[in-house]
Amino acid sequence: MSDGYYNSKKTDDICDDVCGQQGSKAGATISRLKCVLRGFDVRTLLCLFILVPFAIFAIYLHGQKLTYFFRPLWESPPKPFHTIPHYHTENATMQSLCSLHGWGVRDSPRRVYDAVLFSNEKDLLTVRWKELYPYVTQFVLLESNSTFTGLPKPFVFKSNKEQFSFVEERLTYGNIGGRFRKGENPFVEEAFQRVALDKLLRIAGIEEDDLLIMSDVDEIPSAHTINLLRWCDDIPPVLHLQLKNYLYSFEYYVDSKSWRASIHRYNPGKTRYAHFRQSDVMLSDSGWHCSFCFRYINDFVFKMKAYSHSDRVRFSHYLNPVRIQDVICKGTDLFDMLPEEYTFKEMIGKMGPVPRSYSAVHLPSYLLENAEKYKYLLPGNCVRERQTG
Ligand SMILES: *[C@@H]1O[C@H](CO)[C@@H](O)[C@H](O)[C@H]1NC(C)=O
Ligand SMILES: *[C@@H]1O[C@H](CO)[C@@H](O)[C@H](O)[C@H]1NC(C)=O
Repeated sequence: MSDGYYNSKKTDDICDDVCGQQGSKAGATISRLKCVLRGFDVRTLLCLFILVPFAIFAIYLHGQKLTYFFRPLWESPPKPFHTIPHYHTENATMQSLCSLHGWGVRDSPRRVYDAVLFSNEKDLLTVRWKELYPYVTQFVLLESNSTFTGLPKPFVFKSNKEQFSFVEERLTYGNIGGRFRKGENPFVEEAFQRVALDKLLRIAGIEEDDLLIMSDVDEIPSAHTINLLRWCDDIPPVLHLQLKNYLYSFEYYVDSKSWRASIHRYNPGKTRYAHFRQSDVMLSDSGWHCSFCFRYINDFVFKMKAYSHSDRVRFSHYLNPVRIQDVICKGTDLFDMLPEEYTFKEMIGKMGPVPRSYSAVHLPSYLLENAEKYKYLLPGNCVRERQTG
């Protein structure tokens, strides 16, 4: 009863505020209705002419951010991995390293196949192959003249083959023509290219229980990790590799949560080349994942368009070279997106630019042996060169 009174009183107050007039107790419903209507008009107008356009504009600019911000509410985190501790020192015997992991040691190492789909990452491919060279039996590389998003591209590897003569004896190379289907989901072209890579692996002579590294060119397992896995018995049949995530260069260390790279004990007829989660076990601290680590600004533009998530280029000014250079030196996001996290704590902790790292310790050794040539990948050198030729 008293609640009812309170409520109607409150309505009067709101009405008073809007209309700026005293409602008398005796005042009939009509005047109150008028008042409410008038208030409604003012608010509706305000709404229509100021708030709605403003809201639409804000959603246009930041809609994706809004949905991402609420990701912890609409998406639950993937099932956690079982992470195997990783032991390593320079000088230990294989016997003792394998036994630290609870594995036996083999009489001879397994053969190792490293298979990648190549786009245009020439520098990272060199760093990768130099890192893995001592332990890889056969490098398998496939390239297409179509990006995943169906844009034509040259066969970059084929026309730069001489730069990679150091792997010539151990290389199985293949190329395929793109399908160029307009408007198709980029993941379809990607899947098509991975199937072709499976065929190329069989041509390269992969056999049962050989180790197969499935990873993108920019996901580089450390040499000692591959050496460990080829020498130890009883390693899991499918093992994800936990890599350190870097952005633009080894100057921006993001986190250590990259997990897509995996290593397989090849099982003929069963093992399929893939780049998604294929098991629940992961070996800790097994290498580096350097995203958007390019020498030239043009390569950033190309990758932004060629990438499976090219829908993230929502505004053409994202591709402006001046902006891209600025983003690299600040360590901010090329697509102006929020961190992809599953808890508010982690997302908020990661908002804003990636802090600079001054460490070039424990990086792929070829990088430091050629520090001048790969300067742009090392701390303190965020300014990219102009492309020449
Ligand atoms: C590394 O191993 C060699 C022989 O295998 C040994 O002579 C040397 O002392 C070791 N170095 C360290 C730092 O343990
Ligand atoms: C792509 O490559 C295939 C086979 O190598 C060729 O037939 C096709 O013309 C090429 N397409 C483009 C757009 O370069």
